[in-house]
Amino acid sequence: MATVTLVSRPASVLSKISSNSYPALLSAASVTTVQQRKLHHALIPKGKGGRSSFSGIAATVFGATGFLGRYVVNRLGRIGSQIIIPHRCDQYDLMHFRPMGDLGQIIFLEWDARNKDSIKRAMEHSDVVINLVGREWETRNFRFEDVFVTIPQQIARAAREAGITKFVHMSHLNADIRSPSKYLRNKAVGETAVREEFPDAIIMKPSEMFGREDRFFNYYANMRWFGNAVPLIALGKKTVKQPVHVVDVAKAIISAIRDPDANGKTYALVGPNRYLLHDLVEYIYAVAHRPFVPYPLPRPLFQEKEGRKTHDGGQS
Ligand SMILES: NC(=O)c1ccc[n+]([C@@H]2O[C@H](COP(=O)([O-])OP(=O)(O)OC[C@H]3O[C@@H](n4cnc5c(N)ncnc54)[C@H](OP(=O)(O)O)[C@@H]3O)[C@@H](O)[C@H]2O)c1
Repeated sequence: MATVTLVSRPASVLSKISSNSYPALLSAASVTTVQQRKLHHALIPKGKGGRSSFSGIAATVFGATGFLGRYVVNRLGRIGSQIIIPHRCDQYDLMHFRPMGDLGQIIFLEWDARNKDSIKRAMEHSDVVINLVGREWETRNFRFEDVFVTIPQQIARAAREAGITKFVHMSHLNADIRSPSKYLRNKAVGETAVREEFPDAIIMKPSEMFGREDRFFNYYANMRWFGNAVPLIALGKKTVKQPVHVVDVAKAIISAIRDPDANGKTYALVGPNRYLLHDLVEYIYAVAHRPFVPYPLPRPLFQEKEGRKTHDGGQS
């Protein structure tokens, strides 16, 4: 399995509020907004460190029902944490979480991202909040602005007001306000919005994640819309990828939660090797015993077809 490279950048790179002014701001804000929280006895670490012990972490994981979420919940569960999973899906779609934690350690809660009270309720008894909410396409109900800016901002604000000590937010390695991708532009705006609401937030910026249920390798492996040909911008020979394994990203999140110095930092999470997209896709087709027929696709046509974040656009 790949090892993850952690590259930490000072929070001030993204923050509009300078780190010097932050303590003053926080102490002013705390007078009015931060709740006094009593430590529940279950938050005191005990046991040998396995699934049936208690790590002292009570974490709310927003977006746990996604690809990365199940790995994060499992990693939290195996060190004996209490995990609150806000969800909007059917109970049957949550069953895979049940063996990940000891009896009573995983709590499911319905939430609505547009309802501030349901966000607050989900973090009432936690000391850690992790935001993994994301979507690679826009829907009629939720635009990229909602998913990557408004919802993270609401969660970060609620976390600050609730006195949460660790807030982890997932962004993307290529998040950039000048990016041609709407997805990545909104990710960049979301980072800034989160920092403004919660200056001590830990921001994780992974490159493309791969794993069993990924939408990176599986995307190319199941591509059928162009017959047998695989359309790639410039045949994928100008696009460099440094994919990271999903388990390594989950491990990085747990390490950041446990590291007292991680607060306020931004981490770029990448795998150990860089590849040309062409070579990666060629490898995927070789493993699948299918002929690899790359087709040079003009960028505008690709974006029109996909109407969403594209994998072969940038360097990540
Ligand atoms: N996958 C990658 O390669 C990659 C790379 C870099 C960064 N990231 C970022 O890392 C985070 C996690 O990625 P992922 O691949 O695990 O994402 P994912 O599989 O798409 O899961 C997204 C999660 O967000 C929830 N969600 C989406 N829209 C929502 C809404 N309007 N209201 C409430 N919940 C909503 C989903 O809930 P439902 O199950 O109910 O839909 C799901 O739990 C995301 O922020 C993503 O942008 C991912």
